[in-house]
Amino acid sequence: MSSNNARTAIVTGASKGLGAGIAKALAETGAAVVVNYRGDAEGAERVVGGITAKGGRAIAVQADVANGDDVRRLFDRAREAYGPVDVVVNNAAVATFAPLSGITEDEFQREMTTNLLGTILTTQALAAQDDIDAASIINVSTAGTVSHPPYASLYVASKSAVNAFTIVAAKELGPRGIRVNAIMPGPSDTEGTRAMGYAGSAQEAQAIAATPLGRTGTPDDYGPLVAFLASDDARWITGAVILASGGMR
Ligand SMILES: NC(=O)c1ccc[n+]([C@@H]2O[C@H](COP(=O)([O-])OP(=O)(O)OC[C@H]3O[C@@H](n4cnc5c(N)ncnc54)[C@H](OP(=O)(O)O)[C@@H]3O)[C@@H](O)[C@H]2O)c1
Repeated sequence: MSSNNARTAIVTGASKGLGAGIAKALAETGAAVVVNYRGDAEGAERVVGGITAKGGRAIAVQADVANGDDVRRLFDRAREAYGPVDVVVNNAAVATFAPLSGITEDEFQREMTTNLLGTILTTQALAAQDDIDAASIINVSTAGTVSHPPYASLYVASKSAVNAFTIVAAKELGPRGIRVNAIMPGPSDTEGTRAMGYAGSAQEAQAIAATPLGRTGTPDDYGPLVAFLASDDARWITGAVILASGGMR
C-alpha cells in the first residue's frame, strides 16, 4: 500500500458502496476522512465507526454535492475538524437505466447536477483554499464511458462529461500542484446496484462474461487505487482517466 501524505480527505457519497470502501482505504493510509452523505446518516456513522474502531480519524458530514451552499459548508466543517482539505474523492452519483424515451427533464437535472455539477463545485471549493500547496482530486467515473451500454445514455453522458472535466481541470490546476484524475469502475456489488436488482441478474452474468478477470467488482477493489492516486507516489500522474474494471471494456 502506498503511503499517504495527505492530511484531510473528503469522500463524497461515502455512506455506502464504493465511497465507503474508498473512505476506509484512505483512513488506513493515515488520512483524516470526512465521510459525506446526502440522506443516510446511519450508514455514514457506521463507516465512521468502522474507521475510528481501527484507530483512524473520521467524521460524517451531511451535504448535497449538487448544492453550492452545502458544498461550502462541507469544506468549512472539514477544515474546522482537520485543517486544509488536500484530497477530494468525487464519488457521489445517481443513475437510472432507461431507454431514450424514458429520459425526463427532471431526471436530466438530477443526474447532471449530482454527477457533473457536484464534481465541479467540490473542485472549485478545493481550489478556493489558498493554504494548500499540493492536492489530489479523484473523480469516480464509470467503465460505461468506454463500453457505452444501451439504456444508460444519460448516466454515461454525465460521466463522460466528468472524464472531460477531469482532463481540463488537470490542465488548469496543475500549475498549483493540484492533480486531477478519474477512475472508471466496472459493474460492482453495492447497495446502489442491489437496489436496481443487478446482483444475480442476466445483465450481471453478461457483464461477468465480458470481464477478463471473471467477476463483479466489490467496494474493496477501488480503495487501494484511489489511495495511490491520492498519495505522493502518484505525483507525476494528472489528467489520467484510469479503467479499473477487471478488464471489462
Ligand atoms: N456500483 C457500480 O457498479 C458502479 C460502476 C461504475 C461506476 N460507479 C460509480 O461509483 C460511485 C459509487 O457508486 P455506488 O454503486 O457505490 O453508489 P450507491 O451504493 O448508490 O451509493 C451512492 C452514494 O452517493 C451518495 N449520494 C447520492 N447523491 C448525493 C448527493 N447529491 N450528495 C451527496 N451524496 C450523494 C449516497 O448518499 P446517501 O445514501 O446518504 O443519500 C450514497 O452514499 C458512483 O459515482 C457511481 O457512478 C459504480
